[in-house]
Amino acid sequence: MACNVVVLISGSGSNLQALIDSIAHDGNPARIAAVISNRADAYGLVRAQQAGITREVLDHKQFADREAFDAALVEAIDRHQPDLVVLAGFMRILTPAFVTHYSGRLLNIHPSLLPKHKGLHTHQRALEAGDSEHGCSVHFVTEELDGGPLVVQAVLPVLADDTPDSLAQRVHQAEHQIYPLAVRWFAEGRLRLGPQGCLLDGQALPAQGWQIRP
Ligand code: GRF
Repeated sequence: MACNVVVLISGSGSNLQALIDSIAHDGNPARIAAVISNRADAYGLVRAQQAGITREVLDHKQFADREAFDAALVEAIDRHQPDLVVLAGFMRILTPAFVTHYSGRLLNIHPSLLPKHKGLHTHQRALEAGDSEHGCSVHFVTEELDGGPLVVQAVLPVLADDTPDSLAQRVHQAEHQIYPLAVRWFAEGRLRLGPQGCLLDGQALPAQGWQIRP
């Protein structure tokens, strides 16, 4: 049975592209029902159009406050009857009401090895902290910003001559591997959020999620 996915973006949408490409393959049950952006100029909308996917713009600046925007966003998303909502570079902080509504079916990707470096400028902060490893994480979204249960992480070595840009580039490539993987697990019914954390094939995942070293 198909798994309806709604993807939320604000920008380039390279993770969206990775999802589109992965879904074209061998029996992946995920189906992107719609792409919704809060910015009309997000390049990800062009990617959606090229893939023949329904796309919508919901401009947060047209709403009085966060609550009103999120309520409209829920309406727009739910018209597509999603089994899963995927945040792919969606640069908005979500209200508790939104997060609760999609509890257990809302995923995000973050460019650090969470719980390290929540928030912005993660590559620079990893370098400043002298981390020997850096990477990216897919997690279920809870009310705590960048704090939900971890599904999968890609772990990369930090090289002696790395800059924030070089790190960002490698981390971004790794994102394109782990996000399609997590979405596919969910679509296949293998990944669930249980009361104690993430379950993969009925087994509890470790606190840092499934780790790959690409
Ligand atoms: C990624 O770095 C992701 O980790 C963060 O936003 C960025 C989105 O990039 N949440 P893209 O729009 O998918 O290229």
